[in-house]
Amino acid sequence: MRTIIIAGNWKMYKDLSETRELVAALKAAMPSLPEHVESVICPPYPSLALAGELLKGSPFHLGAQNMSQHDEGAYTGEVSAKMLKATGCTFVILGHSERRQYYGETNELINAKARKALSAGLRPIICVGETLDEREKGVTGEVITTQIKGVLASIPPQDMARSVIAYEPVWAIGTGRTATPQQAQEVHQVIRKMVAQLYDWALAERIVIQYGGSVKPDNAAEILSQNDVDGALVGGACLKADSFSAIIRAARQ
Ligand code: 13P
Repeated sequence: MRTIIIAGNWKMYKDLSETRELVAALKAAMPSLPEHVESVICPPYPSLALAGELLKGSPFHLGAQNMSQHDEGAYTGEVSAKMLKATGCTFVILGHSERRQYYGETNELINAKARKALSAGLRPIICVGETLDEREKGVTGEVITTQIKGVLASIPPQDMARSVIAYEPVWAIGTGRTATPQQAQEVHQVIRKMVAQLYDWALAERIVIQYGGSVKPDNAAEILSQNDVDGALVGGACLKADSFSAIIRAARQ
């Protein structure tokens, strides 16, 4: 059985005092997690060190929402893998559609970041997903295949086994419009087959593939019950302890 990983992407929400409140509420709501379920919270950069301290001794992992592909240097505004690790991060979200859309991130750049994260010992949550236009044109499979090939290029099998893939259809992010469980399952299957083609089936069977896009307490159980859906990458609903913990509990219903 694959571990289920529920990750919360806080995006650009929560300052330090709000981080303190939300982490306290999460720890109170979920002193332990269901068996075979892991959870990661991904606050914005300024809150990472504080969240890392507050999460010590809790079942939650810490993740960042982005990182540089470089080790260090004159890269104003960037944050390295080593800096993230020093705050207690063990995960990092890479290639989120908002990074692709607003900051021009390409599959090639995301691949460079993923390789850097893995070599630093971080587990990347690598995001892929089609736009509404692409879905309506019937090219979802091709788009996902190209993204997967691009973002996974040259990642060795032992590193791939530690990587998480998140399928986030762009049209379902923040819109309240979720992919149906069948639509999610269909694309997750395409992704797992791609991983099998690029590596092998044994590895593909172990990879955690999360779904993201308007996951809420009332739709989480159904989406997570699909064979190839191994977790969720949650935006809006992770900003409150009651809704995020309800999604975590739904993972093993
Ligand atoms: P929402 O859950 O708000 O749709 O956001 C999904 C997402 O982008 C998580 O990374």
